[in-house]
Amino acid sequence: MATNERPGSASLSRARVPKIPSVTLNDGMVVPAIGYGTWAMGEEQFLDALEAGYRLFDSARGYGNEAELGRAMARSGLLREEILVTTKVAPGANGYESTLEDFNDSLAALRLDYVDIYLIHWPNPATGRFVDTWRAMIELRAQGLVKSIGVCNFTATYLRVLIDQTGVVPAINQIERHPRFANLAQTADNASLGIVTQSWSPLGAGGDVLKDPVSVVIAARHGVTPAQVVLRWHLLRGSLPLPRSANPARLRANLDVFGLELSEEELVAIESLDTGRRLQGQDPETTNYS
Ligand code: A2P
Repeated sequence: MATNERPGSASLSRARVPKIPSVTLNDGMVVPAIGYGTWAMGEEQFLDALEAGYRLFDSARGYGNEAELGRAMARSGLLREEILVTTKVAPGANGYESTLEDFNDSLAALRLDYVDIYLIHWPNPATGRFVDTWRAMIELRAQGLVKSIGVCNFTATYLRVLIDQTGVVPAINQIERHPRFANLAQTADNASLGIVTQSWSPLGAGGDVLKDPVSVVIAARHGVTPAQVVLRWHLLRGSLPLPRSANPARLRANLDVFGLELSEEELVAIESLDTGRRLQGQDPETTNYS
């Protein structure tokens, strides 16, 4: 359904779309190793990202941009099955019935009849309802309305609560992870449970880590950018990054990382940038959204 208002193109050019390696989740779902982080992005950026070759879009009820993603997908001319859509239940909607209602709002906003990946956005421990949300997600998956289910911002303790109470292991745990907050322990814990780690704010929100001499020197050695070094670090250290960019050239460059070889010493040097501090202090054990 191409009501494409972009001048000069009836549908997106696929001529330069790169091949992105994929990873298989514990439920059989196959996902691209790099997805597009959609926070604070809108319809035109989504079309730019589709044109650059992104096929996994990491959205959330809480980002308020599902409708724009839905419009971009409709305008793109791509088939539904060519795009993977992640969305997340609003943290304030944790609970069984409230999750089912929130999911219906997501479907309507996205203009979809199913979602590929549905995640708990925050455990919101003060409300004590994340297991109820998980049960709702298990039901949505059983109904075929969601293909794959997972969580975000879950600690080792919260993961075990979910698994012990339902027997269902999340396919994904999406966590804050970048060289300033490498989150190595949770990444390893996820792997030990067969859970794929996705990294949010993988570039440290475009902050000082990209200007640090450590990343600048490694990048210069390989003739790439610091952002490409950081994205490759994620992949080589067992997590799938979800970089955001509103800049078409950077969008493309951020997918062009799979040929980059980094040595163990370089990976360790990047990990030396870890401060152990979250960018915005969003500790899942104390963060509660209404
Ligand atoms: P821009 O939209 O101008 O490209 P994160 O994904 O960690 O949240 O970081 C997103 C931020 O990083 C955005 O501000 C984005 O700015 C910036 N960014 C994205 N890709 C690159 C890149 N390749 N080089 C430098 N900055 C980047």
